[in-house]
Amino acid sequence: MDDLNTLREDLMTAVGAAADSAALEETRITALGKKGRITALMKGLGGMDPDQRKQMGQALNALKGEVADAIEARKAEIENAEIDAGLEDDRVDVTLPVRPETEGRIHPISQTIDEIVAILGEMGFAVAEGPDIEDDWHNFTALNIPPDHPARQEHDTFYLPGEKDGERMVLRTHTSPVQIRTMQSGEPPFRIIVPGRTYRCDYDATHSPMFHQVEGLVVDKTTHMGHLKGCLIEFCRAFFDLDDLPVRFRASYFPFTEPSAEVDIGCTRDDGQFRIGHGDDWLEILGCGMVNPKVLENCGIDPEVYQGFAFGMGVERLAMLKYGIPDLRTFYESDLRWLKHYGFAALDVPSMVGGLGR
Ligand code: PHE
Repeated sequence: MDDLNTLREDLMTAVGAAADSAALEETRITALGKKGRITALMKGLGGMDPDQRKQMGQALNALKGEVADAIEARKAEIENAEIDAGLEDDRVDVTLPVRPETEGRIHPISQTIDEIVAILGEMGFAVAEGPDIEDDWHNFTALNIPPDHPARQEHDTFYLPGEKDGERMVLRTHTSPVQIRTMQSGEPPFRIIVPGRTYRCDYDATHSPMFHQVEGLVVDKTTHMGHLKGCLIEFCRAFFDLDDLPVRFRASYFPFTEPSAEVDIGCTRDDGQFRIGHGDDWLEILGCGMVNPKVLENCGIDPEVYQGFAFGMGVERLAMLKYGIPDLRTFYESDLRWLKHYGFAALDVPSMVGGLGR
């Protein structure tokens, strides 16, 4: 029996010392395998007298069970340790910085459109869209620009070859045709803004054949000039982030609005230095007016019941002013160095969720 106690201690020590699954398996074979130490003792039982055999048999069986249990327990311990080690090896450090070369930049045009949409979205405008390829009626005639109207010449229109339903198709020269589409396909009241691409045959430091506008349209029974002024003054101040930015409405002419106005903001120009804000000079930034009753009629809206205001602004021009970009052509040169300099980090994009307080 003393021998058995020594054997138990030996085996238990070996089980406890097994560092991995392979070492443990070896210990199991040494104890319980075909030629294992306990197995060998079991084999010796046959040559014993019955009393001794019974006693020894019970003791050996107990030892066998004990060792097997200890091996199972140790096995679980080793497996858990192996899983933990694997997890430790595979650990991802989420605090490591992103590789800088894979970080894109937001183009200033996208950024500026997002800012305009965020400001006007807060005021309750919804975004509407229309096609870049327009028919003559939506782009001109419905907007009170009939075929012989001089305003047609000012637009430097790209005409597409061929005709559709007897009409020439054009690349829209402004986003105003979406006013027409919106009024024709819905019921007033309307309160929409239309960001989008526009086209005119023109190319220099301040003109590009493709450029962007944001149109605005409000139509309701009680809409008046005060709403137009309040909305655009508020917009200019929010966009340029200047609470006291001077904003002036200067009488102008558009066929689709009556009366029409050009909106100017205060600025200073000293020795080639240009600054937006209080100053002795003015800078034109957008066109607007009360929707011409003829336009409402063209869309089947009764001008005796409804009236509205509309405005249109050039996105490139606003982006150049706000971010000090001197040449409009650089917007479309796809120069990565330029984009790195003037572009925005993705997280700077304003969001309408939670307002403008970013
Ligand atoms: N569509 C005009 C333009 O492109 C801008 C404008 C829109 C003016 C709406 C008044 C009202 O110049």
